[in-house]
Amino acid sequence: MSAMLDTESEEPIDLEYVENAKKPEGERGRDVLDHMNESHAPLTQWGFDHILFGDSVLDVGCGGGNALRLAMHKAPGAQFFGIDYSDVAIETATSFNGEAVMSGRLILKKANVEKLPFEDGLFDTAYSVESYFFWPNLERDLKEVSRTLRKGGTFAIITEMVAGNMNERSRKISDVMKMNVLTPDDLQKEFEDAGYHEVRYDWDMAKGWLVIQGKKA
Ligand SMILES: C[S@@+](CC[C@H](N)C(=O)[O-])C[C@H]1O[C@@H](n2cnc3c(N)ncnc32)[C@H](O)[C@@H]1O
Repeated sequence: MSAMLDTESEEPIDLEYVENAKKPEGERGRDVLDHMNESHAPLTQWGFDHILFGDSVLDVGCGGGNALRLAMHKAPGAQFFGIDYSDVAIETATSFNGEAVMSGRLILKKANVEKLPFEDGLFDTAYSVESYFFWPNLERDLKEVSRTLRKGGTFAIITEMVAGNMNERSRKISDVMKMNVLTPDDLQKEFEDAGYHEVRYDWDMAKGWLVIQGKKA
């Protein structure tokens, strides 16, 4: 089900791959980012069909940058920003979106979601694809994203790692990696506890895809 973790595979779990999905490093990290750019595209497109993009947009945990490329296509007039705490991810996302970076339409920064290098109230929209379960403290990190949103701005998490809807292999990977994989209702509670309002989710259980979003009060 999960493209990121190749959870349909019959092969033994490749922990180096999963480590590099959490924080891509070196040559293996580059390969994993290229793979995720391709394999996350259908989930990402589906998630984006549920989001309204404003004029200023942030991607949290942008990885190899294909989500940014797809989002820039959907919101042609918007200014884009992306952050990731992996050097290799920022390098890959930069070369993948070279023209947009050169023109200033896309600004990429190395940063941890824990402390975003942006002023308060900058973004109309923020989103994150297949990353929340790696974050150090979800409620606190959701608040940090909210800090950077304007009042009424939206944050959306798009993911296929959803507790209660994973096969045995995904569960094993999630256990070994100590990933914080939540149910849609628990994610909704995290959003609400972090102060978001009008929190709602769309869940395609057959595909295993979830998009959950809330607004800054
Ligand atoms: C599974 S990859 C997904 C990448 C990209 N969003 C995509 O869908 O292809 C997870 C990404 O989140 C980033 N990430 C994980 N924890 C992070 C944190 N605390 N702060 C910033 N980025 C983080 C990783 O470096 C990695 O690039």
